[in-house]
Amino acid sequence: MRFTSVFLSCVVVTAWATPVTYHSSLNSLDEVLLFDAPAFQDPDNASNSLVSLQAFVYLKQFDLTTLTSALTAWTLGGIGGSIETAVERLKLFAAVGVPGVSLSVGVAECSEQATLSATSGLPDLGLSATNASLGHCDGGNAFTGTLFNADDVVTTTIFPSGTNGFGVISDIDDTVKVSHVLNTFQFIKTTLFDNPEPVPGMPDLYASLIQTLNDPPFIYITGSPYQLFPFLRDFLKASFPNSRGPIFSQNVTLADVSQVIDVLSNPNDLLDYKLSQVDRVHGIYPNKSFLTIGDSTQSDPEVYAEAYRKYGDFIRCIWIRRVDGANNSNERFTAAFNGVPQTKYRIYTDEEIPGLALIDVAGGSC
Ligand SMILES: *[C@@H]1O[C@H](CO)[C@@H](O)[C@H](O)[C@H]1NC(C)=O
Ligand SMILES: *[C@@H]1O[C@H](CO)[C@@H](O)[C@H](O)[C@H]1NC(C)=O
Ligand SMILES: *[C@@H]1O[C@H](CO)[C@@H](O)[C@H](O)[C@H]1NC(C)=O
Ligand SMILES: *[C@@H]1O[C@H](CO)[C@@H](O)[C@H](O)[C@H]1NC(C)=O
Ligand SMILES: *[C@@H]1O[C@H](CO)[C@@H](O)[C@H](O)[C@H]1NC(C)=O
Repeated sequence: MRFTSVFLSCVVVTAWATPVTYHSSLNSLDEVLLFDAPAFQDPDNASNSLVSLQAFVYLKQFDLTTLTSALTAWTLGGIGGSIETAVERLKLFAAVGVPGVSLSVGVAECSEQATLSATSGLPDLGLSATNASLGHCDGGNAFTGTLFNADDVVTTTIFPSGTNGFGVISDIDDTVKVSHVLNTFQFIKTTLFDNPEPVPGMPDLYASLIQTLNDPPFIYITGSPYQLFPFLRDFLKASFPNSRGPIFSQNVTLADVSQVIDVLSNPNDLLDYKLSQVDRVHGIYPNKSFLTIGDSTQSDPEVYAEAYRKYGDFIRCIWIRRVDGANNSNERFTAAFNGVPQTKYRIYTDEEIPGLALIDVAGGSC
């Protein structure tokens, strides 16, 4: 770590040195990332669908020199692994966002194109997040949204769900994906170099929830920055093919891409951010009831418990994976779950994962 920090401080280059262009429609210099998105019934018009759509527009050409140097320092530091893999996973940290661009996304099953608000300036440079109208949509569990106005075809998966029934909110790192967030060295290694692995038993558990909760939407709330979205999406596609869903991630814009390792290994306090994302889910599906699944490494117990105190049965159950090395003390859980009935939450060990599938969540057990 120390070696790396010293190395990094020698190669300071700021992204803002690159000129920023302002224009209102996409041009051939721009690239677009569309995030997978939930769709839901318009609360003001039952025959209309809305989609909570997010996009990142950035200059197609960007400089990877600084990022590559920073990552080379880590491989030299003994972590080992393919530098190409690491650069590919982290390259969006070096991308330069483009403000003021408006996009439209079309869905074959829906009567209207979704139009996003113009991409933002600083601090969320190049990002846009909008509730956009899709008009009337016909059936289906997943739609493909296609960007209009692009040279390349850019697509996104849109997951529609009805107003009632169950849903699942899940964390990613150390809940469904082996990440070792408590060990900086291991965490950086799994994030940058290793093939991502699911937590054993979780793909089967999530597949069983599709049956027992009658096709719930799965919404993943992660502390990871949006730049890791393609990596996390591909992981879910490979390991959780039938329980995929939108990934709500953090907005992080680096002034200095050489800080990427420090930013990844020293996450901010996730409590407020994750609560804001549970609020976002509540805004989208206020009349559903969610099984919330997380782990004891960061703030999931505190986040889901606070959401229960705020929203009651919108949070149907809270399941927390007990991760070795985390604060698994009674004091912690007693404080976190203050005001939450003991029948509403469960701290589970890895040995207990197969048994979770037998719990009748729909029938009121947790
Ligand atoms: C949720 O349920 C309430 C009470 O039944 C109803 O007034 C409201 O329209 C519902 N909201 C949605 C988004 O379906
Ligand atoms: C990310 O940035 C967009 C654009 O400014 C904003 O609308 C959205 O609320 C931000 N998301 C979070 C989680 O802060
Ligand atoms: C409700 O939405 C449908 C489908 O988008 C649209 O055709 C209709 O005009 C809308 N109704 C109102 C009152 O806005
Ligand atoms: C999107 O729609 C949901 C549900 O109506 C609402 O709670 C939320 O505030 C809206 N978000 C924005 C950015 O308009
Ligand atoms: C664990 O959490 C409790 C409650 O927040 C706190 O009092 C205790 O100091 C923590 N223990 C460790 C080892 O961090």
